Amino acid sequence: MTAAVPPLGAPGRPTVEAGTAAQVAEGELPEQTLAEMRELAGRYPQARSALLPMLHLVQSVEGCVTPRGIEACADVLGISAAEVSGVATFYTMYKRRPVGDYHVGVCINTLCAVMGGDEIYDQLQDHLGIGNDETTDDGTISIERVECNAACDYAPVVMVNWEFFDNQTPDSTVELVQRLRGGQSVRSTRGPVVCTWREAERVIAGFPDDQADEGPGAGPASLAGLRLARVHGWTAPGSSGAEGKDAAETKTGEGERVGADPGTPEGGSPYTRGDQETRIDESSAETVDETDRTADADGRAENPERGEDRP
Ligand code: FES
Repeated sequence: MTAAVPPLGAPGRPTVEAGTAAQVAEGELPEQTLAEMRELAGRYPQARSALLPMLHLVQSVEGCVTPRGIEACADVLGISAAEVSGVATFYTMYKRRPVGDYHVGVCINTLCAVMGGDEIYDQLQDHLGIGNDETTDDGTISIERVECNAACDYAPVVMVNWEFFDNQTPDSTVELVQRLRGGQSVRSTRGPVVCTWREAERVIAGFPDDQADEGPGAGPASLAGLRLARVHGWTAPGSSGAEGKDAAETKTGEGERVGADPGTPEGGSPYTRGDQETRIDESSAETVDETDRTADADGRAENPERGEDRP
């Protein structure tokens, strides 16, 4: 059963910002998309919990959150379009205008700003000739000043379609967008080859492309604190002394920081598996990196803590 939905433009019926062909498209979404929306709704005990992935699915099809996308979400979930619109306009990942094939987010939050994020954004803006939340005329690149990407250990950080590019500089970021505009295949620092924004939105919606395990789960800078704790035998309150003893026996890793990289060609990675890449052992909920495995002569997976993966 679905709630009655007033037509677009009716009193009390919020609409998203118009202005492009995609946004004024009429009629319903494709039947396949509607079926996938219903599938998403069926994944949750309460259907409305699927609203966030459904909005990402809308973006993967429409290029942004469109009025008919809002209407479809409301119809499938049996809620009002105002409720859907309230969510879609709250979170910055939901766009009311189509972004480029590659949406470049430059972190300008405190640490990245101190490390050069503002300079990166300024040079990128000058290079592309567009402003915040604007898209190049060829539709390939849009830019956005973003707040903390939860990757401060690799500041200044840039994201392309939500994939990380670590330790950037103004020049490396310009080179990155040049390669993307040139149609080159670019691999993110800790993830897969960058796909288009619409493809990324479909993955976020809950339809995997089987690339999630590409790249290291956590880079060396993310694990620096853990290694330091091992050297000194530090443990979290409540953890056993044995863990601290084991931790103190473990050697630190090498090379905590890598240079700015504008993305590597498919198949390449700035982190070498031998001394930097980390494997997340899901079965034991432990983080085991290659450095630790080398240092541990007994071959034990002794890391007591799980490394933080990227969001
Ligand atoms: S301040 Fe930029 S990722 Fe945290």
